[in-house]
Amino acid sequence: MTGAKVALITGAAKRLGRGIAEHLHRSGWQLALGFSQSKTAADTLARNLNETRPKSVRLFQADLAQHSEVAQLVADVTAEYDQLDLIVNNAAVFPSTPLGSTSPEQWDEIFSVNLKAPFMICQGLAPIMAPYSSIINICDVFGAQPLAGHSAYSASKAGLIMLTKSLALELAPQIRVNAIAPGALLEPSGYEEANLLTDLINRAPLHRLGGTECLDTIVTFLIQNRYMTGQVIPVDGGLLTT
Ligand SMILES: NC(=O)c1ccc[n+]([C@@H]2O[C@H](COP(=O)([O-])OP(=O)(O)OC[C@H]3O[C@@H](n4cnc5c(N)ncnc54)[C@H](OP(=O)(O)O)[C@@H]3O)[C@@H](O)[C@H]2O)c1
Repeated sequence: MTGAKVALITGAAKRLGRGIAEHLHRSGWQLALGFSQSKTAADTLARNLNETRPKSVRLFQADLAQHSEVAQLVADVTAEYDQLDLIVNNAAVFPSTPLGSTSPEQWDEIFSVNLKAPFMICQGLAPIMAPYSSIINICDVFGAQPLAGHSAYSASKAGLIMLTKSLALELAPQIRVNAIAPGALLEPSGYEEANLLTDLINRAPLHRLGGTECLDTIVTFLIQNRYMTGQVIPVDGGLLTT
């Protein structure tokens, strides 16, 4: 579709990233979809979406823990598109990192994927962002509240919240930067602690998982509202109020 807006979504092959991709695609967007390990899922998603609308989706494989691959992703996206209208920094890792058994390598991976890569992607792609374009960083309520056993993850998401606010200043007035802070929307993918999910559902006043689709209206709102930047919207079943 000529003239369609273009979005880059990282971690788009599965789960929340895929849900955001499918939502934007239904709304007419062209998509640059990032993935790392999930090649089969990414290929299937791209094929299905391209069948619905030919040449509407391109895939970009990059391990965001490796700076050289982040730089290559930026170069590849820049080579492919004249301009971008949206970046969704969604890819993340969520391993438990208990005090006493967390290695420097684990810490570095978490911060590289969850915080450094979003910064480098924003920095690298800002020059091709269109006027009135925007960036959405997918954070976490546990970037604002501590989660025992996950200090590296929580600290990385706290950093992403501050990055959202800092970049909102630096990229204004051309580009708006906002964040979504989900609570328990899906079961964690690398599910290590059997009780964590039950505990989160019990603690959230709405007492259920949110699912992927609860992000659709928030994403659309953040894209469309042109007087909003530097904000973090919780979508957490009320968890942050407890
Ligand atoms: N699910 C929830 O309920 C929930 C709650 C709060 C916050 N969040 C946040 O919402 C976002 C999406 O959540 P999710 O549960 O859908 O995430 P997820 O399934 O745990 O991970 C999303 C994607 O991140 C990508 N990723 C991980 N390491 C990567 C690397 N080194 N390089 C490139 N990509 C990498 C993976 O891509 P590949 O599979 O292609 O490797 C993965 O599919 C995350 O930022 C998460 O922190 C989710």
